[in-house]
Amino acid sequence: MGKRIDVQDLNVYYGDFKAVEDVTMTVEPRSVTAFIGPSGCGKSTFLRTLNRMHEVIPGGRVEGKVLLDDQDLYANGVDPVGVRRTVGMVFQRPNPFPTMSIGDNVTAGLRLNGMKNKKELTERTERALRGANLWEEVKDRLDKPGAGLSGGQQQRLCIARAIAVQPQVLLMDEPCSALDPISTLAIEDLVHELKEDYTIVIVTHNMQQAARVSDKTAFFNLAATGKPGRLVEMDDTTTIFNNPKVKATEDYISGRFG
Ligand SMILES: Nc1ncnc2c1ncn2[C@@H]1O[C@H](COP(=O)(O)OP(=O)(O)OP(=O)(O)O)[C@@H](O)[C@H]1O
Ligand SMILES: [Mg+2]
Repeated sequence: MGKRIDVQDLNVYYGDFKAVEDVTMTVEPRSVTAFIGPSGCGKSTFLRTLNRMHEVIPGGRVEGKVLLDDQDLYANGVDPVGVRRTVGMVFQRPNPFPTMSIGDNVTAGLRLNGMKNKKELTERTERALRGANLWEEVKDRLDKPGAGLSGGQQQRLCIARAIAVQPQVLLMDEPCSALDPISTLAIEDLVHELKEDYTIVIVTHNMQQAARVSDKTAFFNLAATGKPGRLVEMDDTTTIFNNPKVKATEDYISGRFG
């Protein structure tokens, strides 16, 4: 478990607008990689290309390659649904299935994959909800709608839903932006645990969080307003935070802009 991601010369478009330009990077298996950079530089856009969620947006397309181990996700004949099963995602805005119960939200992917055994589903529900630090709050109302949870609870529900299927890679887009400090730390602990088996990419605006949870950090930036976002620099997190090569990286992490 835990796959390596190799991105080669990737350009990402919304129709004619090139949102991200020329990204080449490697994400090591069983590690945590943080994406940081100012708002609008294309972190979410780029993240979504790693499990073919970008193309569900009208006009969304990519040029270049994304290899998962050695398989090109964009090669002819690759089933995007299968890709998304292997590469799970937690979105920037929580998006539980609103009319589905809390429990069914967690097991939606498992049931889609054909799991029917009640006992197994019950066990997986509890494990995923515990992992997302939500179990105690919802264990007595698993049959109530997911939409009835607070924003932070919904985000943790989405995290539970994503980890329930045990993907090999987990993409998390600002998973803690709506969470209180206790849940944030719980999610960071979870990320730490998950990286023993999974490859994790996390987008965050929280520099302390990037420093705490990630092994590698990738800094994205815009050359100028209206220009595409680019990967400025990627390195060990300690290097990015203590000794970055590019001045723009240092300015960003020390809070001088962005
Ligand atoms: N659905 C879309 N259609 C057209 N342009 C889009 C779409 N989504 C994002 N963009 C544009 O792509 C660029 C990158 O946006 P993106 O959401 O990836 O940035 P981000 O780095 O995730 O920002 P934030 O930190 O605010 O979440 C922006 O210029 C944005 O306006
Ligand atoms: Mg974003």
